[in-house]
Amino acid sequence: MLKNTDNISLSVSIIASDLSRTGYDVKDFDKNIIDYLHMDVMDGHFVPNLTFGPGYIKNLMNNTDIPLDVHLMIEKPEDSIDEYIKSKPWGITIHYESTRFPVRLLKIIRDAGIKSGLSINPSTPVNAIADLLIYTDLVLIMSVDPGFYGQKFLEISIGKIEQLNSLKQKNDSGNPIIQIDGGINRENISEVVKAGASMVVAGSAVFKEGNVNKNVMELKKIANSGI
Ligand code: DX5
Ligand code: ZN
Repeated sequence: MLKNTDNISLSVSIIASDLSRTGYDVKDFDKNIIDYLHMDVMDGHFVPNLTFGPGYIKNLMNNTDIPLDVHLMIEKPEDSIDEYIKSKPWGITIHYESTRFPVRLLKIIRDAGIKSGLSINPSTPVNAIADLLIYTDLVLIMSVDPGFYGQKFLEISIGKIEQLNSLKQKNDSGNPIIQIDGGINRENISEVVKAGASMVVAGSAVFKEGNVNKNVMELKKIANSGI
């Protein structure tokens, strides 16, 4: 199904960059081109990798006006959600698989004036979150098993985006943004957009080679042209 692709936003996943330099490098990121910075928080438990926590996020925010899209890949986000809320990012996404209290957490995030995001791993069916859509401003479909950048896009994700899109059409489901994350590149970006994703995360495709602003511009151009 073809969708209107004019409002596609791109969120740049900074773990694919040199994190020790990001506070300096981010000053060259053009906020007229880069819509969001995607912050992958990993705790070494929910996923087998460690990245950064709320302190790093707060410091980075002092160096950029680009809104932050925080993706929490941590066990029991209820234990530390307050710390992430304090810095008031644009959005905070929790994982459905990481907590027994997704509704409570989504409400806390929303009540703080922050976009409430809910993510599902590739092995979690879209139907599992059908009842939760009314509490979410954003649903993140993982198109790789979370934990690392640079993995290959899983084709099963296309069907999941389409399923989510039809769930959204139902009157009482709310209207969350559909975000896709993992293995997005120039070859598959228009496919995920056509399926119904309107916010695309990209890491390796942005940082692998060349200029960050230029790479983002090209990805968005391909997404919008619907090739
Ligand atoms: C995976 C992360 C993704 C990833 C994106 O656990 O949530 O955000 O870093 O990087 P690429 O685009 O390289 O898959
Ligand atoms: Zn992510």
